[in-house]
Amino acid sequence: MSTATHSTKSPRQLYSMAKSLGIWDPAKIDLTEDTGHWQRLNREQREQLIKVCALFYEGEVSVSDTLAWFMLAVPELERRMFLSTQIFEEVKHAEFFERYFQEVCGTVDTTAYLVPEYKGVLLDELRQRGEAIGAALTNGKNGDLGLSLTLFAAHYMGVVEGVMALTGYEFFEDLLAKTGMFPRLLEGIKLIRADEGRHLVHGMDYLREQLEQHPEYAAPVRELFMREAANIPRRTDIIFTPNPLGLDRNRIQEISYANHAQRMREAGLA
Ligand SMILES: [Fe+2]
Ligand SMILES: [Fe+2]
Repeated sequence: MSTATHSTKSPRQLYSMAKSLGIWDPAKIDLTEDTGHWQRLNREQREQLIKVCALFYEGEVSVSDTLAWFMLAVPELERRMFLSTQIFEEVKHAEFFERYFQEVCGTVDTTAYLVPEYKGVLLDELRQRGEAIGAALTNGKNGDLGLSLTLFAAHYMGVVEGVMALTGYEFFEDLLAKTGMFPRLLEGIKLIRADEGRHLVHGMDYLREQLEQHPEYAAPVRELFMREAANIPRRTDIIFTPNPLGLDRNRIQEISYANHAQRMREAGLA
C-alpha cells in the first residue's frame, strides 16, 4: 500500500484531473449484491460495520461543510479552483454512505456513533478551525490568517484525510478480503480514495509550502500532529471493541501510525 503524496502536481493540474476523474456518480453504483450479504451478518457484526460507515458519513458531511472556509480565504486562484472540485467530491462521498444506509443497512442514526473521540476531531474542532479562518479574515491581521489556514490544512488534510480516512479504507479492504462480502462498498471506497488522493496531494503540498515560508508555524502544527498521534490507540479501540467481524486491530493501528509518520514527513516535520 502506498500512502505517498507527491509535489509533482500543481493545483491547476489537480483541478484538470478532477474535471475528468471526480465526476463518478454514487447513485450509479448497483448495491444489490451487498444487500444480500448484509442479511448474512448477525446483529453484532452489523453494528460494527455501521459504526465505521456512520463515522465516515459524519466525517464526509463535516469536511464538505467546513472546506468552504478554507476555499474562501486561500489567496491563490488556482487553489480555489481545485478546492471547488474538492467540495463537490466531499459532498458525493457523503452521498455514497447516505445511499448505502438507505439501500443496504436500513435506517441508521449516524449521530449515535459520534463518541467524543471522533466528534471532537471530525466535527467540533474542525468547525472551530474553519471559524478561526473566518475571524482572521475579518480582523485584518494577515499573520493570524496564515496560521489559521495552516492549522486548518494540518487538521483537515493532514489528520482527517491523511491519517483517519486513509486508515479507515483499510478496514473495508480487510472486510472484503476476510469475508468475501461487500464488494460494492469497496467499489465506492476505491472511488472515494482516488478523489482523496488528489485532496491529499494538494493539502500536503500546501502545508509544506506554508511551513517552509513560515517556520514559526512549525511548532503549533507539530503540537497538533503529536496530540493526534496520542489519540490513535483509543480511536482504534473504539472501532474494534467489540470486534465480531474478527478483523485485525493491530494491523489497522500500525497503518494509522505509518500514515501519521508519512504526513509529518511530507509536511517537513520529521
Ligand atoms: Fe471525502
Ligand atoms: Fe477529501
